[in-house]
Amino acid sequence: MEVLFFLLILAAEIKGLQVEGPSSPLVVQLGGAVVLPCSAQNPLPQEGLRVEWSSDSGSVVNVFQQNEIRPELQSLAFRGRANFFPDQISRGNFSILLSNITGEDAGVYRCQVYTDQDSSETTVEIKDVERLVVTGAHHAIITFVGEEVILNCSIDSHIPVHQLEEVTWTKHPDILVLLFQENETLSESSHERYQGRAEFFTSEIPGGNFSLRLKDVRLEDKGEFICKVHAADLSAQTTVIIQQIGPSSLQKFILVLCFISFALALGLGVPVFIFLQKEATTRRVLVMYILAAFCPNICMFIAFVLWSTEGLLSEVLICAAVSFARCLILMKTAPYLNTLPERLVKEVKSLGFPLYCSIIITAVFSAELTHYKGSSFILTERILMLTGLILFSIGAVISAKFALRISSFLFLVQCNGVLLAFFLHADSTNIQDIVTTTPSVFVGMILLLTLQRHFFQQKPFKRLHIGLTSAVVAVACMMVIGVFIFIGIYSGNVTQMWRLPFMAVIFIILWITLVCLVRRQHNNNNNRFCAKWRGLGYMCCAVLLSISVLANGILYLHFIREYMRSKDYSGYLALTVLLHILPPASLFDHPRNIQKIPHITLYMFGASGLSIVTSLTLGSELILKAGTAERTLPEMYIIILPFECLFVLGWLALQIYSSWMRMRGRIKRNFEDEEEAEAQAGEGSEEMEVRASLTKTPES
Ligand SMILES: *[C@@H]1O[C@H](CO)[C@@H](O)[C@H](O)[C@H]1NC(C)=O
Ligand SMILES: *[C@@H]1O[C@H](CO)[C@@H](O)[C@H](O)[C@H]1NC(C)=O
Ligand SMILES: *[C@@H]1O[C@H](CO)[C@@H](O)[C@H](O)[C@H]1NC(C)=O
Ligand SMILES: *[C@@H]1O[C@H](CO)[C@@H](O)[C@H](O)[C@H]1NC(C)=O
Repeated sequence: MEVLFFLLILAAEIKGLQVEGPSSPLVVQLGGAVVLPCSAQNPLPQEGLRVEWSSDSGSVVNVFQQNEIRPELQSLAFRGRANFFPDQISRGNFSILLSNITGEDAGVYRCQVYTDQDSSETTVEIKDVERLVVTGAHHAIITFVGEEVILNCSIDSHIPVHQLEEVTWTKHPDILVLLFQENETLSESSHERYQGRAEFFTSEIPGGNFSLRLKDVRLEDKGEFICKVHAADLSAQTTVIIQQIGPSSLQKFILVLCFISFALALGLGVPVFIFLQKEATTRRVLVMYILAAFCPNICMFIAFVLWSTEGLLSEVLICAAVSFARCLILMKTAPYLNTLPERLVKEVKSLGFPLYCSIIITAVFSAELTHYKGSSFILTERILMLTGLILFSIGAVISAKFALRISSFLFLVQCNGVLLAFFLHADSTNIQDIVTTTPSVFVGMILLLTLQRHFFQQKPFKRLHIGLTSAVVAVACMMVIGVFIFIGIYSGNVTQMWRLPFMAVIFIILWITLVCLVRRQHNNNNNRFCAKWRGLGYMCCAVLLSISVLANGILYLHFIREYMRSKDYSGYLALTVLLHILPPASLFDHPRNIQKIPHITLYMFGASGLSIVTSLTLGSELILKAGTAERTLPEMYIIILPFECLFVLGWLALQIYSSWMRMRGRIKRNFEDEEEAEAQAGEGSEEMEVRASLTKTPES
C-alpha cells in the first residue's frame, strides 16, 4: 500500500504537471464577481496546451486551445461573463473571472489542463451564492378610503428569515409603519398614524413574504411605502406606491349631502325671497319657508355627523352644533314669524338666542374635553367646570323662558367665563390677571343693568329680580374668594393676591348700596326724577353697558391670544367673537317694527347664504383633501363661524336700531304715557319691556 502511494507521488513528480485550485470552497455574492483559481506551479509550454473549464452540469465555461481563447465554445449561460486573464496564461495561471453571478452559479467547477504529454485537473466549488433580493409590487396601487390593501414585499435570501437584522416598512418621508427585528414584529414602535392599522402575515414570514396588510386606508396614506431589509452587511429595498385613493362611499354620500344642501339653499332661497317680498303667507308658502330654513341645515348637520369618522372630533362637534342650532335663530329672525302658531312664536322669541348659545357653548366645551384627553388636567376641576357650565346654561334657558332676560344674559356671560377658564386651564401664571379683571367687568355689568332697570326705567321692584341678581353677585364674589384661597393654599403666595378679597368686599358694598338706593327710590314715589334726567341716565347706562360688553369680549380675546401662543388660536378667536355677540343678542326684547328690506335681506343671508357657505366649505375640503391627501384648513369653523358672527351681528344691529327708535319715541312722550300703556298690557308682558339697549355704540 505504502509502496503504491510512493510510486504515485514519484510519477507525479516525474510528470511535473499539477494544477491547483483554492484550498476551500468559495462563497460569492449574487451579482458580484469571483476569481476561480486554477494554476500550475511552473509555466507550461504554450504548444499543444489546452485548458478547459466546465461546470458539473457539463456546460463549457471557457476554453483555451491552440494558443487562443475560444469564446465561441462557451455555453450560453457563461457567454461573456467567464474570462481568462490572457497575460497570466503564459505564467501557468489559468484562473477565470466569473462575473454577474446568478443563483444558479453555485456548484463544482472543473479546470482541466492538457499538454502534449500530460494532463491534470482541479475542482473549484462555489458553495454559496449570497443573495438578498427584495421584490415589491408589480404596479402602483389604486384603492379607496376605508379599504384594506396588501403592499407586497418578498425577500429572497440565502440568509434564513430569523437571522435578518431588520425589515422596516416606512412611509415616505420617514414615518415608521411597521418594524420586524430579530425574528420579532415590533408593532408598538409604529408611528401613531399606523398603530393598529399595519401588520404582517405572520404565517407567511418564514417564507420571506413580508407583505404589509394596511387596514382602513386613509387619504394621507397616499404616496410611497418603502420595504427595507438589512442582513449582515447587505441591504436592499423596494418601493410600493399607493397612487390614488378614491373617496369612500361614505365620503361620496357626504358630498351628495353637501350638494343637496347647496341646491336646496339656492333653489328654495330664490322663491322664498320673492314670496317674502310679496309678504305671502298662505299655508303652502309657509311650508316652503320652513323647508327652506330647515332642510339645508339638517342636511349639513347629518353630513358633519357622518364626517366624524374622518375629521377631528372637536371640529365635527362644533360644526354640527352650529348647523343644527342655526335653525333656531333662523326661526327667531324670520320675517314670517308672527304668522306661525302663537305659542310657538312666544317660545321662539324668548328662547331662540339663549338656547342657540347654550347649544354652541356645550359643543365647544365637549370639543375642548376631547382635546385634553390624557393630559394632567385634574379630573375634579373638569367636573367642576362641566357642572358649572351645565348649571349656567340651564339657568340661562330657564330665565329666558320666564322672561328674565337680564339673568339669562348674566348666565350666558358666566358660561363664557367658564369656557375661558377651560381654554386656559392649568396655566396658573395668568390666573391672577383674569381673576382681577373679568369679575370686575362682570359685576359692573350687573350694576349697570340693575341701575338702568330699577332706577331709570322705574320698573316695579320685584323680589325675584333682586334676589336672582344678588345670587349672581354672591357667586361672583365667592368665585373670587375661592380663587384667592385656592392659590393661597397651593402657592403660599397670599400677599400678592391681596387685591382679590378687597375686590369681593367692594362688590358686596356696591351691590348693597345699589339695592338700598333702588328700594328707597321706589318707595319714595313723589321724589321721582323728571323724564329728561331719566332719559339721560338711561342712555348713559346703555352706553356704559355696551362699552363693558365690548371690554369683556376684548379682554377674553386678549387672554386667548396672550396665553395660547403655543397653539393655533384662530379657531378660538372666531369662537370667542361669536360667543360674545350672543349674550347681548339674547338680552334684547324681540324687535317690533323692523324695516322690511334689511330684515328680509338679513334673513335670506342666514337661511341661504350660511347654508351655502357651510356646504361649500365641507364639500371643497373633502375634494381638496382627496387631491392632496392633506387638510387645507386646520379647522373648518374658521370659515363658517365668521359668517355666523356676521349674521348674528346683523340681527343685533336691527335690534339696537328698533330699540333706539322706540326709546326716542318714549323720551318724546315722557315715559309716563308708555307706562300706563304697559300697565294696561298686563302682568305677562311686563318683563318684555325691559329696555336693555345694550350695545349701543357711543356714536349713536
Ligand atoms: C492568477 O491571476 C489572477 C488574476 O491576475 C490572480 O488573482 C491570481 O492570484 C493568480 N494566481 C496565482 C497562483 O498567481
Ligand atoms: C402581490 O403579489 C401577489 C402574489 O404574487 C400578486 O398576485 C399581486 O398582484 C401582487 N400585487 C401587486 C400590487 O403587485
Ligand atoms: C422565529 O419566530 C418564529 C415565530 O415567532 C418561531 O417559530 C421561530 O422558532 C423563531 N426562530 C428563531 C430562530 O428564534
Ligand atoms: C404574501 O402573503 C399574502 C397572504 O397570504 C398574499 O396575499 C400575498 O400575495 C403574498 N405576497 C407575495 C408576494 O407572495
